[in-house]
Amino acid sequence: MADHFFTAEPTSADVRRTVGARIWGREYTFTTSSGVFSRDRLDLGTSILLREAPVPTTGGTYLDLGTGYGPIACALAVEDPEAQVWAVDVNNRALELTAENAKAAGVAERVHASLVEDVPEDVRFDQIWSNPAIHIGKPELHKMLLHWLARLAPDGVGWFVVGKNLGADSLQRWLGEQGYPCERIASAKGFRVLRVTATNEDPAPS
Ligand SMILES: C[S@@+](CC[C@H](N)C(=O)[O-])C[C@H]1O[C@@H](n2cnc3c(N)ncnc32)[C@H](O)[C@@H]1O
Repeated sequence: MADHFFTAEPTSADVRRTVGARIWGREYTFTTSSGVFSRDRLDLGTSILLREAPVPTTGGTYLDLGTGYGPIACALAVEDPEAQVWAVDVNNRALELTAENAKAAGVAERVHASLVEDVPEDVRFDQIWSNPAIHIGKPELHKMLLHWLARLAPDGVGWFVVGKNLGADSLQRWLGEQGYPCERIASAKGFRVLRVTATNEDPAPS
């Protein structure tokens, strides 16, 4: 069966390549490989997310949920020199590449490329950034989002990019129903950028 980018251990040959990207006015050269998401270029949705959401500079603890080869995590750590960035994925090759890319960007000590289960329980996030893995299916996607949103700091914020044709608008509604107010802050090229906040309100009864 063909590899999917969210396979834990891609079986495809690990053929490395480099891709250039300009993020928040800086040039990056990322190493990518077969078996990881968008290995040929910075994904369009990711680039829209990075263009539309405000770059954080407050020295917080951030989560890059579904880091892939790590473009979001590396850029967050470079822009915010005091930040600690947890870059999680289920794909081991993606995590290896994220660690390499963080090293190349000079931020290896503050980018923690981790399997989901290896993030310490007590870590809370000031911000969650994600181009989430919609293709895992709605039940898994919802489970994943609720798991991590529960770990947002009380005044924390999540920034998500989702394709309109991949259910961005229904996901926005669903997040609100779960007690996470969610607004669309931008819409471009078929993608929605969503801003999600933590709340103490009880979720709507299901
Ligand atoms: C759409 S890609 C985005 C990758 C990267 N952030 C980028 O912008 O290029 C989503 C990523 O989520 C990962 N993923 C899939 N299921 C996951 C899960 N349950 N928890 C965390 N990450 C997951 C995939 O392996 C993939 O790397």
